[in-house]
Amino acid sequence: MTIKEYFASRKQEIRDSLFSLEVKPHFVVVQVNDDPASNAYVKGKLKDSAELGITAELIKLPESTSEEKLLSLIKKLNKNQEIDGFIVQMPLPRHIDQQKIKLAISPEKDVDGFHPLSSLNPCTPQGIINYLHHEGIVLQSKNALVIGRSEIVGKPMAKLLLAENCNVTTVHSKTLREDMERYVANADIIVVAIGRQGFLDESFTYKKDAIIVDVGISRDENGLHGDAVPNLPVGLQTPVPGGVGLLTRLALMENLIKIYERNHN
Ligand code: GUN
Repeated sequence: MTIKEYFASRKQEIRDSLFSLEVKPHFVVVQVNDDPASNAYVKGKLKDSAELGITAELIKLPESTSEEKLLSLIKKLNKNQEIDGFIVQMPLPRHIDQQKIKLAISPEKDVDGFHPLSSLNPCTPQGIINYLHHEGIVLQSKNALVIGRSEIVGKPMAKLLLAENCNVTTVHSKTLREDMERYVANADIIVVAIGRQGFLDESFTYKKDAIIVDVGISRDENGLHGDAVPNLPVGLQTPVPGGVGLLTRLALMENLIKIYERNHN
């Protein structure tokens, strides 16, 4: 099933499961900028919520908001019993310490799964694992390559693949090209999240049944592009757009519902 089809069908299942609830899950998004990319992400999250029967609210603050003010808002949201969960949209303005904000969000309300004590996983890696499972892809004993080591994607992705019993290698911007080629040629599953448009291209050799999961997203006058060029000679390659972005949105809604169920059972 394509990711678009999977997204639509999973959304329908979630909508059906929430339909008869008297008290709907309540979700809050905090955004501290007016950046076009963040606006687009936030819009998607609010749209998904509305379609699923989740009540959602956006608190949009100016770029000039102080760290202190944001921390005090987070404290209030942590205490508010009406709210099941919330996220603070990243990236934050430079004068705000991202790590401090992540740690201030109560693990009980952390829909992003960013807090080290959260029982939930970050949405992009979790969404990717869910889709691979749905497609019946066997992960155990496979050679998984994670390209990129960000806190949001690369590091948690490697951890989740390890939990699936993959042999996991992480490479990054400082990996030598000759080594990168060797790892790519040997990989059964490649998750690329290095933030370089078209980084994986025909100059690499791939296993013919390899799976490429493309987390990259760069924008230019021709639209959105991933970290891999389209149509590489592999078994499966996720598209951009219409790929991992949708999987992340699903995992976010699923995390929120897990928190709701914890609160209402
Ligand atoms: N910015 C890009 N991806 C994400 C995400 O998954 N969560 C948050 N809070 N911000 C993001």
